[in-house]
Amino acid sequence: MLSEIVTDRCILKPFSTEQIDGLFKMESDPEVHRYLGNKPITQMEQLYEVINFVHKQYKEHGIGRWFVLDKASHEFLGWSGLKYYDDPDYAPFPIYDLGYRFTRECWGQGYATETSRAWIKYAIDHLKVDCLYATAHPQNQASINVLTKLGFLPTKEIKNPECESNCYQLQLNKSTSLQ
Ligand SMILES: CC(C)(COP(=O)(O)OP(=O)(O)OC[C@H]1O[C@@H](n2cnc3c(N)ncnc32)[C@H](O)[C@@H]1OP(=O)(O)O)[C@@H](O)C(=O)NCCC(=O)NCCS
Repeated sequence: MLSEIVTDRCILKPFSTEQIDGLFKMESDPEVHRYLGNKPITQMEQLYEVINFVHKQYKEHGIGRWFVLDKASHEFLGWSGLKYYDDPDYAPFPIYDLGYRFTRECWGQGYATETSRAWIKYAIDHLKVDCLYATAHPQNQASINVLTKLGFLPTKEIKNPECESNCYQLQLNKSTSLQ
């Protein structure tokens, strides 16, 4: 696994406890969890469980969600990345799901789109998969806009049993748009 990925404005790094305060602030914000099943966290211990789960993904599948930091200040902005699912509740075959979550202060500035493009490139160059998947609540227009801008199309191949969701897929090939 790479140790970091740099985009125009961001540094993407594996989850660690270093940014735990920023992560707690974001994950305990009800607005952030509005379209994610309305379950903001309340205890720091819940975050350690999340970090352990993500580290298990790194170990077993070489990938997972990563932190997103501001390139200049190293301030915590959120996370984005690829999650491996091998769970028939989601899909009848293993999939890589693109996901992202940012602190409220930095919404609407293109960070989800910018970091997702880095993950699409990563999927093509390193994972060598031909498809990525994503889900979004039908009212989460910001997320739907991101997926649409990236070229994702609706699919019925997968489902999200955790939360009411529309499902999307992006067919990948060397000429997939990364602008
Ligand atoms: C969804 C989320 C990740 C988007 O991140 P972002 O960095 O703001 O996304 P971008 O700026 O790259 O793009 C957002 C797009 O939606 C638009 N948008 C933002 N908020 C919107 C809203 N409330 N309603 C409609 N459109 C909205 C933006 O204008 C932009 O579209 P544009 O480029 O055509 O102008 C962010 O809102 C977030 O973290 N939400 C909470 C967690 C979450 O819902 N994660 C996604 C789960 S599927």
